[in-house]
Amino acid sequence: MTSMTSAEAGQEHPHTMRLQRFLARAGVASRRGSEALMTAGRVTVNGVVATELGTKVDTDADVVEVDGVRVRWSDEPVYLMLNKPAGYLTTMSDPQGRPCVAELVPVAEHPGLFPVGRLDFDTTGLLLFTTDGDLGHALLHPSHHVKKTYIALVDGAMHDDELAPLRRGIVLDDGPCQPAPSQVLERHSGTTLVEISLREGRKNQVKRMLGAIGHPVLELHRPTFGPLELIGIEEGSWRYLTDAEICLLRRAATR
Ligand code: URA
Repeated sequence: MTSMTSAEAGQEHPHTMRLQRFLARAGVASRRGSEALMTAGRVTVNGVVATELGTKVDTDADVVEVDGVRVRWSDEPVYLMLNKPAGYLTTMSDPQGRPCVAELVPVAEHPGLFPVGRLDFDTTGLLLFTTDGDLGHALLHPSHHVKKTYIALVDGAMHDDELAPLRRGIVLDDGPCQPAPSQVLERHSGTTLVEISLREGRKNQVKRMLGAIGHPVLELHRPTFGPLELIGIEEGSWRYLTDAEICLLRRAATR
C-alpha cells in the first residue's frame, strides 16, 4: 500500500480493527473468505488496494470497498445457525477445556454472540446464535417458546401406540410435560427412528421423555428450530440467517 489508513496513521479511535475482521463483521464473507478477497486484490481502503493481512482500518473514518462497492460498518445484531456436531458443549467457554461450540462460530468478529438454548454434548443439529439479547431471550421465554423438532434413534423396536403418553403429556420428575406431537418414522431391527416436537426446553427433555416410555435415546438430532430449518450446512459449519429468516424468527418470538 502506498498510503496509510487512518488507523495506521496513529489517529486515536476506538473503532480500529484488522481489515479482514472488519469485512467479516460487516457480513461480506467469513474471516478466511475476507482474507482471500484481500489477497486477490479485490479490497481497497481509501481507494488503495489492500492485500496485506495486517492492514488495520478505522471503521468510522476509512472507506473500504470490495470490487468497488462500499462496505459499511454495521452494529446491527447478528444471527447465524450452526450445525452442531456431537462432542461439543453448548457453552462459550469451559473451565475444564472441553470442546465447546464457541470454537465453531465467529466469536472474534461478533463479540457478544451467544447460543439460544442448548443442545446436549452428544446431540447434533440446529443451534441458533445471535448478538440480539432481546430476541434470544424472547425465543426462550416460556410464554412463546418456539417449536423444535427432534429426530431420535431409540433403543428397541417401538410401536407408534407407545408414543401415546407423550402425545397426551407425560409426567417427568420435574413436572408434567406439554403434549408432544410425535411419530415413528422408521423401525429397524432393535432400534426405531422417532420424530418428536417440543415447545418446552427442559434439561435432557427428549431423552427423559423417551426413556420414560422404555426406549432410551441412542442418538439425537435437531433439524428445526421454530421457523428455521437446517438445510445445506455441513456438520461443524454455520451460516448467517437470511433477512427473511430473521423476520420469521422475530414473528415467532412475539407471537
Ligand atoms: N432434549 C434432550 O434430551 N437433549 C437435547 O440436546 C435437546 C433436547
